[in-house]
Amino acid sequence: MSSISSGRPTFGLFGASPYNEKPMDKGTTKERFVIEGLGGKKTLKGELFIRGAKNAALKALAASILFEDEVRLENMPQIEDVERMSEILRSSGARIDRTDDVVAIVPPKKWKPELERSIASRIRASIVLTGPMLADMGEVKFPFPGGCVLGERPIDLFLMGFAAMGASTQEDADGNFTVRAPRGGTLRGARIFFPKVSVTATETLMLAAVLAEGETVLENAAMEPEIPALAAFLNECGARIEGAGATTVHIRGTAGKPLRAEGRTMRMPPDRIDAGSFIILGALAGKDLAIRGCEPKHLGSLLSALSRAGVPLEVGRDFVRVAAGDVPNEKFKSISIQTHEYPGFPTDLQALYAVLLTQTSGEATILETIFDGRFRYADDLVRMGADITVMNPHKILIRGPKRLSRKELEAPDLRAGLAYILAAAVADGTSIVDNAYVIDRGYEDIEARLGRVGLSIRREPAA
Ligand code: UD1
Repeated sequence: MSSISSGRPTFGLFGASPYNEKPMDKGTTKERFVIEGLGGKKTLKGELFIRGAKNAALKALAASILFEDEVRLENMPQIEDVERMSEILRSSGARIDRTDDVVAIVPPKKWKPELERSIASRIRASIVLTGPMLADMGEVKFPFPGGCVLGERPIDLFLMGFAAMGASTQEDADGNFTVRAPRGGTLRGARIFFPKVSVTATETLMLAAVLAEGETVLENAAMEPEIPALAAFLNECGARIEGAGATTVHIRGTAGKPLRAEGRTMRMPPDRIDAGSFIILGALAGKDLAIRGCEPKHLGSLLSALSRAGVPLEVGRDFVRVAAGDVPNEKFKSISIQTHEYPGFPTDLQALYAVLLTQTSGEATILETIFDGRFRYADDLVRMGADITVMNPHKILIRGPKRLSRKELEAPDLRAGLAYILAAAVADGTSIVDNAYVIDRGYEDIEARLGRVGLSIRREPAA
């Protein structure tokens, strides 16, 4: 066991990574958030509306490669990751027009089967483009995909799946991969068992299989709700996918025949991580906060933990109301959680949940089973006054309640970045969260939305 009340933890996990999470070069100055802490008072009040899911939007953009006509995507969040994915598609030949929350993708006559290195190497979801590009063009060249630094994020499952479908992979000295379909340029359907459950590998191989020859069976597939949402749209447009959302998915390929949208539009499902983040905020600092336009049935693991903790929740068909203003946080009980693939507790919410555990009464652990570098935030919460012990790279112990005090912090990744905003909201004094860009990657217009429910938060150029 290693206690981290001062200094950085001594595990090698948190050190330099080749995939550091830094702002993209957008030609803009770095920005930061300044947050006035509520000092433990629970005053936030009003409604927060949930946007379309980031992790659905990025995959829908990738799927547009399977189409021969224009694809329209609705309820698209205005976040940096969507912009970056759009830029990669543009650099491969697509025309992309955005009007409010609708994105239209007009495919080129012939895609350039190469993912723009400078962008694809910075965003993990770029790997999803490889499946449809390989299926459509018979070839794809791409760099190792970057993204949030959450420990090692290999791509072996993708390459294994492509190999099972008859493709071969070469890696050059600069770390670019080139994958080629078998002779004739069409992938062959295959039976693919994933030794590890992976969201993006499931999606990538599902998309590749749509245009393949013959049937593909994906076993031990991920069940995240964004997967059946995408499959349902593709099926309307000519794909034949059965079982998406369950652990075994069958795809009968079209043998190279592209899909046709013929004016159909895919509407992104609500972002369950966006919703979960605000529900946790509601428990921590809300007087009466309603999170609207969400799918509570996608949030079972979080809602169950919160109700066991004693957080007053009202759950409707498409909203969750947290009316916790009259209950001081120390009245809530600390409940241990362990992250798990859907429908288990999402790894993307554990940093935010950790902030709640700093305020509730008792001892609880967080067991992270998906990634091995996802406690980088613990050190900073300790600096703010939290009592956290890193027991091993996968487990932390939090003792609450502890009063948090103002600090200047740097968002280490998207979700931990928002966790810092939550910690700053409950703390005493004015805190700063640097590296706003990583939060903008996945949360739309965060300062305006939180400002409307009463949090004093502003964006400013970094000093
Ligand atoms: C997706 C989500 C991310 C979320 C994560 C887990 C997107 C764009 N991102 O990320 O927000 O945190 O699911 O819910 O949808 N793995 C391998 N080999 C591979 C691929 C993955 O070993 O080839 C491992 C990973 O290291 C990890 C586990 O599989 O330990 C799950 O990762 P995965 O589901 O692939 O996460 P992402 O799809 O990258």
